Amino acid sequence: MDHRTPVRRAARNAVLALLVLTTSTGCAGGVEGTPGAAGLHDPYFPKLGNGGYDVTHYDLALDVDAPARRLRGTATITARATQDLSAFNLDLVGLTVQSATVEGRPAAVNRAGHELTLRPDADVESHLRKGRTFRTVVRYSGTPQTITDPDKSKEGWLRTADGAVALGEPTGSMAWFPGNNHPSDKASYDITVTVAKGLTAVSNGELASRATSGGTTTYHWHVAEPMASYLATVAIGRFDMKSSTTPDGIKVFTAADTKVAADSARVLARVPEVVKWEAERFGPYPFSATGAIVGRSGDAGYALETQNRPYFPGPPGTGLLVHEMAHQWFGNSVTPESWRDMWLNEGFATYAEWMWEADKENNPVQGRFDAAFEDDDNWAFPPADPPTAADISQAPVYGRGAMVIHKIRQAVHDDKRFFALVKGWTRAHRHGNASTADFTAYVERTTGKDLTKLWNTWLYGRSRPASEG
Ligand code: TRP
Ligand code: ZN
Repeated sequence: MDHRTPVRRAARNAVLALLVLTTSTGCAGGVEGTPGAAGLHDPYFPKLGNGGYDVTHYDLALDVDAPARRLRGTATITARATQDLSAFNLDLVGLTVQSATVEGRPAAVNRAGHELTLRPDADVESHLRKGRTFRTVVRYSGTPQTITDPDKSKEGWLRTADGAVALGEPTGSMAWFPGNNHPSDKASYDITVTVAKGLTAVSNGELASRATSGGTTTYHWHVAEPMASYLATVAIGRFDMKSSTTPDGIKVFTAADTKVAADSARVLARVPEVVKWEAERFGPYPFSATGAIVGRSGDAGYALETQNRPYFPGPPGTGLLVHEMAHQWFGNSVTPESWRDMWLNEGFATYAEWMWEADKENNPVQGRFDAAFEDDDNWAFPPADPPTAADISQAPVYGRGAMVIHKIRQAVHDDKRFFALVKGWTRAHRHGNASTADFTAYVERTTGKDLTKLWNTWLYGRSRPASEG
């Protein structure tokens, strides 16, 4: 563009260059930034997430007045620009933004739907060049929203009898903090929650500190390993919290709503056993901390594999604990590239349940496979291609997803080689992202087999084959 030419010429003249640079926007050094994309084109949620940057760390400081249903938050987001940025978006739904700064300078704020657009001050534009790391601070407050998903389930911020629980699959994290709300952008977190004294705030990771002063208690949770936004949680209420350390050095935090604590004790005591059993099959546990959060039935309509510490609406059975804990490997450490890859989460987590039953309850995996094969619900659509966003949590993603894993086990023949393949997968993508194409290529590479027919029948096939063979 013409108006940039004088800047380049002036570069030969330091004095003139300085004059021009201080009055121009987007021209410093001859580089002009452009706005980051407002969505990441996910096949099911095209507007989720944002382009132009990668978040490396979220520091969330939340002040929650549970009875009044109000939240006050400060989100400090450290991100690396992946293009020269003139502006960028965060995802945030509801709430009021009081102020935003980028690199310490006030940024212009615009909101439209769940898109929060920040236009940094021209003075800091050089800090948003491709490859540079910049810091954004958003101050916000209000009553966080409950989001209704395409499949009608409720997520986001859910009120409970004496507090709240935040659950975020697939979109709900933007109800309580601004961010890059897509599984492809993982980051470490510090989540600090201040609540009235007497209430507990449980979140992901390790409890770094807990301090009571005056009438409030502040809980600081630290998540060192990368986490997708949909796995972030905070549960506020009256909880029985217990901590211990496994023989392998994994920190265990369990929290059960006092009303269900007695009924939860037995299953919660089995958390270390389940983690160990799964680590033997899937590879080393990927995080420094584990545990579980048990709320009251009805607080949420489902369990969720929130990172480190799955959430259960009431005391879970062992099978459900096994399922949610398996997600720590499949989903939380190896995270789907997009919401189309959900079967990689649910297929493996369901298969973990089948294997647990085989091992502990003498119910062979083949029996579960046979039943799944006969179940018409599993044949509604191919697990790797749900027809709509409302279908990503439906039967084929779970049941036929697990059947795909079993067919791979059969194709490999030897169990030692099968578990080596599974461990190799969790190792290859540990703390990262992976797609269905990554998985099928990996399995073919590792086995040295052309499995086109297996994928076409079990993963992509629209109808039940004549036989299981
Ligand atoms: N992932 C959860 C589980 O397997 C279930 C679930 C809750 C879910 N909300 C969802 C799946 C939204 C897909 C989309 O236990
Ligand atoms: Zn699951």
